[in-house]
Amino acid sequence: MKTLVLLVSVIAFASSLQAQQSGPITNTDGRKTTSLNGDWQVIVDPYESGYYNYRYQPSDNGYFKNAKPKTKSDLIEYDFDNSTTLKVPGDWNTQSDQLFFYEGTVWYKKSFDYQRKPERRVFAYFGAANYLADVYLNGEKIGQHEGGFTPFSFEITKLLRDSGNFLIVKVDNKRRRDAVPTLMTDWWNYGGLTRDVKLIETPLTFVQDYMVQLQRGSRNVESGWVRLEGARRNQKVTVRIPEAQITKSFTTDANGLAKFDFKADLKLWSPESPKLYDVTIEAETDQVSEQIGFRSIETKGTDILLNGRPIFLRGVCIHEEAPIRGGRANSREEAQMLLGWAKELGANFVRLAHYPHNEHMIREADRLGIMVWSEVPVYWTIQWENPDTIDNARNQLSEMITRDKNRAAVIIWSVANETPLSDARLAFLKNLVSRAREIDGTRLLTAAMERHYVDATTQMIDDPLGEYLDVLGCNEYVGWYDGLPEKADKLEWRSKYQKPVIMSEFGGDALYGHHGDDLTRWTEEYQESIYRHQIAMLKRIPFLRGTSPWILTDFRSPRRPLPKIQDYWNRKGLISSGGEKKKAFFVMQQWYRELQSQAR
Ligand code: GCU
Repeated sequence: MKTLVLLVSVIAFASSLQAQQSGPITNTDGRKTTSLNGDWQVIVDPYESGYYNYRYQPSDNGYFKNAKPKTKSDLIEYDFDNSTTLKVPGDWNTQSDQLFFYEGTVWYKKSFDYQRKPERRVFAYFGAANYLADVYLNGEKIGQHEGGFTPFSFEITKLLRDSGNFLIVKVDNKRRRDAVPTLMTDWWNYGGLTRDVKLIETPLTFVQDYMVQLQRGSRNVESGWVRLEGARRNQKVTVRIPEAQITKSFTTDANGLAKFDFKADLKLWSPESPKLYDVTIEAETDQVSEQIGFRSIETKGTDILLNGRPIFLRGVCIHEEAPIRGGRANSREEAQMLLGWAKELGANFVRLAHYPHNEHMIREADRLGIMVWSEVPVYWTIQWENPDTIDNARNQLSEMITRDKNRAAVIIWSVANETPLSDARLAFLKNLVSRAREIDGTRLLTAAMERHYVDATTQMIDDPLGEYLDVLGCNEYVGWYDGLPEKADKLEWRSKYQKPVIMSEFGGDALYGHHGDDLTRWTEEYQESIYRHQIAMLKRIPFLRGTSPWILTDFRSPRRPLPKIQDYWNRKGLISSGGEKKKAFFVMQQWYRELQSQAR
């Protein structure tokens, strides 16, 4: 360790760190937690009669009261304790045939005892709930969360009892025009408490949130902040990285905030060596720790530089569809299987589409050395002019960044996918771009955009949004929605911007085991042909710095009913819903192996 120069500055920039809707708890690592996963009693309530009275007004006496008849004459028309159960975490659609297509409200109830301790606070934490969650403890409303793919938590200290607690969540996955995503998506609208639920205990004043990452463009200046929540906000806090003998102390201000920079030569994280350090944030009243990697990511002209060196992102898109069993993936094992397949393909990068995936996925990518594109579900035709929709999208973006800002694997935030050009859309997305830069200045920003023909054989990338992005994502389906596979042979690509381009989607459908000549749709041979012609075309694009074909595995979509071929699966996977590799997988793998050997 050559030089340790300490640069300490304390700046209150509370405004940009305003507590998001996600609530006080951001990182659960190293905290005392009590899992509430497992069987929850549920009531399926398509008419929301557990929430509204017959005049469609919210009732004070809804199912959240978990009422029981006190006498034989009492009229109670629901009973959680004699109701069926669903597993949490999990979507309801794949747990019951009756709920496969169900979109509406399901009430979840979990009873539990909890040994309360003096001088401690307790929070109910949800990894995610799709889509709108109203949360109650012991009959009292504790909060609401909108957005199906980001964590949220509510404090329950005052309402908690030692025994006989009941946590009730009304989960509604009805699609709405003003929501994010909006009415139309090409993925299954899996509903429910889709990720872990747990109780988290903290001291009265605790480390509410922190960020420790390399400063943008630097390879030896760590910068970040720590924020305390509670009565004693003005404390000494220390950042420790024992393996690197780093101990840096600062003092939080009256708002509980300390911002810092310090110099340190750490081993940098990369796909070849995904180095993670144990990092501890210590305050006088609390301590948290987790594994963090340090790497720099930036662009220079049309190049993407990782730790100062140009890289090519050998990627693949992934939906959060559980491999083999189908349904929302939610475990470390499923993340390992999906990322294992990506590694087998030769990938050093994954585009997690079209929403923030579960935390297991991101932490596994950190450990495996796979770079990540993470995206908010601003997908297709969002209601651009609706202020509530903008707030909702901003909030989902903030929650995504808040959860994963210390993950070295995450190199790019994406604000949108295939959104139609308009002034309102541009204003909406510029708003998201500035929000993202406000919260996290260390990562690249992108969006999956569309291209257009300037003549029969020339493609142009000139979406006005490109001006505000660091990296341009472009989706194209030459050979599937646009002509036959060989059409790619004649195409030339142009871009209005001197910026790196990632071909963020390309490919076509094939049913595994369905064979024929390479002009017969739905066969493995047709899909294989698309990939052969695509790769030849991609190699000719001078500003191309990454690819993520659509998609690693087949995934469910309500837009794909073709019998005996799709059966409500989008079959563009390189791997089938049964986990079998299609011919195109090996075409892509061969190219990635070539690129890998060239990069060495
Ligand atoms: C679109 C879209 C994907 C969709 C894919 C397809 O480009 O971004 O969400 O699944 O095309 O049509 O298969």
